[in-house]
Amino acid sequence: MISPQLKQFIERIPKAELHCHLEGSIQPRTLIELAGRHGIELPFEDEQGAKAFYEFTDLNQFLGIFALACGTLKTAADFETITVDLGEDAARQNIPYREVFFTQAYHDRRDVPWQQVIEGLASGRRINKERFGVEMWFIADIDRTIDPQEAVRLVEKAHESREVAGIIGIGLDSQEIGYPASRQKAAYDLATELGFKKVAHAGEDAGPESVWDALKSLGVQRIDHGVRSIDDEQLIAHLVETQIPLTVCPVSNIALKVYPQMSAHPIKRLMDAGVLVTINSDDPPMFHTDLVNDYLQVTETFDLAVDDIETLARNSFEASFMQAESKAKYLADFGAEVAQLKRELFG
Ligand code: HPA
Ligand code: ZN
Repeated sequence: MISPQLKQFIERIPKAELHCHLEGSIQPRTLIELAGRHGIELPFEDEQGAKAFYEFTDLNQFLGIFALACGTLKTAADFETITVDLGEDAARQNIPYREVFFTQAYHDRRDVPWQQVIEGLASGRRINKERFGVEMWFIADIDRTIDPQEAVRLVEKAHESREVAGIIGIGLDSQEIGYPASRQKAAYDLATELGFKKVAHAGEDAGPESVWDALKSLGVQRIDHGVRSIDDEQLIAHLVETQIPLTVCPVSNIALKVYPQMSAHPIKRLMDAGVLVTINSDDPPMFHTDLVNDYLQVTETFDLAVDDIETLARNSFEASFMQAESKAKYLADFGAEVAQLKRELFG
């Protein structure tokens, strides 16, 4: 059992989140409101119904439901609404800094123009800073399955909109098996040329070879998930040596049956091996979680100590794509706040 003090420590410690999908973070009440705005039928009527509906068998079946949630997003105002929800949620959980994925391929399929999406992200991000003091940046994700030429065009569009919408990086998501990272090398080469940060989902549905592929073909600076690296000793040694961070999403991995239960999850083994691990919530309402709950579940299952939690939270700022000056400031504030929090809670 987690003591009330340890629970408070997890709730109140400053955390950065680096792996969270905008379209997968729509709260059921907002989803129902958006569906109402546009006269769209959902397979559930209320929040309880949504909770019962969000049960998954695997990644690919989940992606079908993710696309269904995307179906409620049409206008800039819709994208602003969900961005601001995520800012408010960040403030509630003491997440002063959040890097958030969005995946335009899902919006292209419904003919929602890039400009509508960008307008909503830009105004939502501004509101989050003003209203909640939350700093938010976006990572434009390439759906692995899209045509490589389309992925190159996405990077070009991200470059045109990077200032207005706060786009710092390029990522890769969706169906992992059958669509190797190397397919999208051209888009990542362009991203490198344009000075974008680069990440990729890998080692979630597929094994360590998929992580190697993302590292070698795309030159990514972080791996999203990456948990199946545990099956390759050489890869673990490489991750330890380079300190390339993993953005691990423990509750997501259980929800999508990557591991049967939390006790089988490799997060503690990755930490103990010296990999730079961060905890993240992926698509929190769809996985019945939030960032605090992900920390709580890992703490409970692996009996983490206060210092382990502090390390995980500090890692989240270290692994972020902030400018050096900004990172130094966040880390200094983090040190002071954690020292104060420990005195207050643990004497
Ligand atoms: N994996 C791949 N694609 C995704 C995920 C994920 O966990 N969440 C949303 N899109
Ligand atoms: Zn993800």
